[in-house]
Amino acid sequence: MTVAIDSAPLLQIENLRVYYWTQAGPVKAVDDISFTINPKERFGFIGESGCGKTTTIMAILRLIKRPGRIEGGRILLKGSDILSLNDEEMRQSRWSRISLIPQGAMNSLNPVMRVQDQIADAIVTHRGAVPIRELRERIGDLLETVQLSADVADMYPHELSGGMKQRVCIAMATALEPELIIADEPTSALDVVVQKAVMETLIGVQERLNASMILIGHDMGMTAQVADRVGVMYAGKLVEVAGTRELFRQPQHPYSQALISSLPSIREKKRGGGIPGLPPFLLNPPQNCLFHPRCPHAIAFCRETPPPMHRLRPGHMTACHKLSAPEQFDSAGGSDSGAGAAMAGAGTEASSGHQTR
Ligand SMILES: Nc1ncnc2c1ncn2[C@@H]1O[C@H](COP(=O)(O)OP(=O)(O)OP(=O)(O)O)[C@@H](O)[C@H]1O
Ligand code: SF4
Ligand SMILES: [Mg+2]
Repeated sequence: MTVAIDSAPLLQIENLRVYYWTQAGPVKAVDDISFTINPKERFGFIGESGCGKTTTIMAILRLIKRPGRIEGGRILLKGSDILSLNDEEMRQSRWSRISLIPQGAMNSLNPVMRVQDQIADAIVTHRGAVPIRELRERIGDLLETVQLSADVADMYPHELSGGMKQRVCIAMATALEPELIIADEPTSALDVVVQKAVMETLIGVQERLNASMILIGHDMGMTAQVADRVGVMYAGKLVEVAGTRELFRQPQHPYSQALISSLPSIREKKRGGGIPGLPPFLLNPPQNCLFHPRCPHAIAFCRETPPPMHRLRPGHMTACHKLSAPEQFDSAGGSDSGAGAAMAGAGTEASSGHQTR
């Protein structure tokens, strides 16, 4: 789709930090990340399990629960900082301006309420009383926009298939026509054929509303097909942001390269594989470049200096010294300890390759 990249961003995240304060110390789940979402854009997040994707989006909704806390940064929605809203203003913004299809959404439907009453709840809570006939019509229309029959309104969740329940969740999340839809693994509990159909429905609704979307998907192939731009997260940091085609064809950060080369390819007759080594324990992460223990290019400089986010070209940012300070690598004469290779025997990702968790 065409995205208006020269218009003002819908959402700007600046230096966001979210920590979980455990008894053993702070888990830096999101550590100083910045990115923007443009109007009508679909932005995908990829990265191994535990890298901070869900924490990032829950911070945008201000739904971080204890022991988690937003430690710093700004979250600007059309220029105004969400973090400065009071609780009531924030409650009003959820659903009506930013809505969430949470991880495992279909299990969040209330089993003892009819679909109609659950959708009505969301509408009435935010818009106030609506005449019953108008409400029924509105719910019928909403169900039809997610390719369900209006009769589903009278059904209970146990009468619906997984795909139908997920469509109901999409209808609920978009009932108030939000500007930003956040979908955390919206199709992961469904079988492959239903996944594709539900994703098409979600995109159809997003485009009809002219909304932007943040999409977290464990299936990188799906993200590659759906997103306009992609952010790669590693251990609470954003390490690369680029247009989807550019990122998947020419990833620049060594972690993005490893992640994308773990995808199986039919054209190249290549099986997927894991990334050597394990993601760091965020209570006690490596210093400076967090990827250095797994990176085949690491030099001493990577362990001593944090890599800044560096603009390679318009729209393509990455945080790796090899790209922002190549002279350091010329003088070092290659990787210092073959760290990446040394880690290869230390265990492989739980992932089988094409999925990030
Ligand atoms: N309540 C909590 N207390 C302590 N640590 C937490 C808590 N919730 C999340 N974390 C930690 O924060 C980090 C980021 O978790 P998050 O759920 O955001 O990752 P994710 O990228 O969404 O993973 P997944 O792909 O498995 O959904 C992880 O290391 C996780 O262990
Ligand atoms: S900064 Fe160094 S260790 Fe980190 S990804 Fe780049 S080359 Fe590898
Ligand atoms: Mg998650």
